Amino acid sequence: MSMLFITAGRLARRYLPEPARTGLQQAAQAARRGLPGSRVQWGNINTRAPFSEFWGWDRGLPVDRYYIERFIAANRGRLKGSALEVQSAQYTGEIDAVEHTTVLDIDESNTRATLIADLNEPESLPAATFDCVVLTQTLQYTDPVAALRNVGRSLKPGGRAVVTVPCLSRVDPEAPSVDLWRWTPAGLRRTIELAGLRGTVAGHGNSLAAAAFMLGLSAEDVGRHRLALDDEAYPVIAGAVIEPA
Ligand SMILES: C[S@@+](CC[C@H](N)C(=O)[O-])C[C@H]1O[C@@H](n2cnc3c(N)ncnc32)[C@H](O)[C@@H]1O
Repeated sequence: MSMLFITAGRLARRYLPEPARTGLQQAAQAARRGLPGSRVQWGNINTRAPFSEFWGWDRGLPVDRYYIERFIAANRGRLKGSALEVQSAQYTGEIDAVEHTTVLDIDESNTRATLIADLNEPESLPAATFDCVVLTQTLQYTDPVAALRNVGRSLKPGGRAVVTVPCLSRVDPEAPSVDLWRWTPAGLRRTIELAGLRGTVAGHGNSLAAAAFMLGLSAEDVGRHRLALDDEAYPVIAGAVIEPA
């Protein structure tokens, strides 16, 4: 049925004069919106207020965290020895092969931080020190090229940085003036290249996950089985594994 509408639209664009074309297109669009299975059932989604103001944390696991946790789990084997993580040892702290985590933050009031430094400041991280760096959902607050250069320099030979960035997200309500960037997977690839580094990048998410995340719904709301399949056209996060400089 969809193909019929697309073909009719193409023929109309090619052969009909403007007024008839517009009328036909509008009729076809209305018919498409009314097709069984295509009609939107808004229910209680028809509201400007999201279901959560905090990415879904007050309803369960935020949708982006589902993908971040899955990405960390997939790269668990790379996390070992001396680690660097931002804000807390949330992910590296759970891994036996990690012997020690240096917790980095720019925020001096963070009592979990053992290294207060600005990622944007060249050489603010010690050189060739870490076997792994976990940098989740942080680059959007930084000058990402400078920050990645710094991270790449801090890795030991053979070490890896496991990095995630938001492809879409609400603006951070606690730091709106420094929540600067969102990426596509290709954009993250380019950012890594601009930092003079090499890495592999993939998007994680699908259109339902993307819509649910923006509405403040949690992974539990959506159902993990619906989140599990990736559609590269609709990433919620991009994940990268980056090699040392
Ligand atoms: C939203 S948290 C994300 C980190 C956390 N591990 C996670 O996965 O949610 C962002 C952290 O990055 C820190 N941060 C922001 N800009 C920074 C910078 N330029 N240098 C170092 N840390 C920075 C913030 O203070 C905050 O602790």
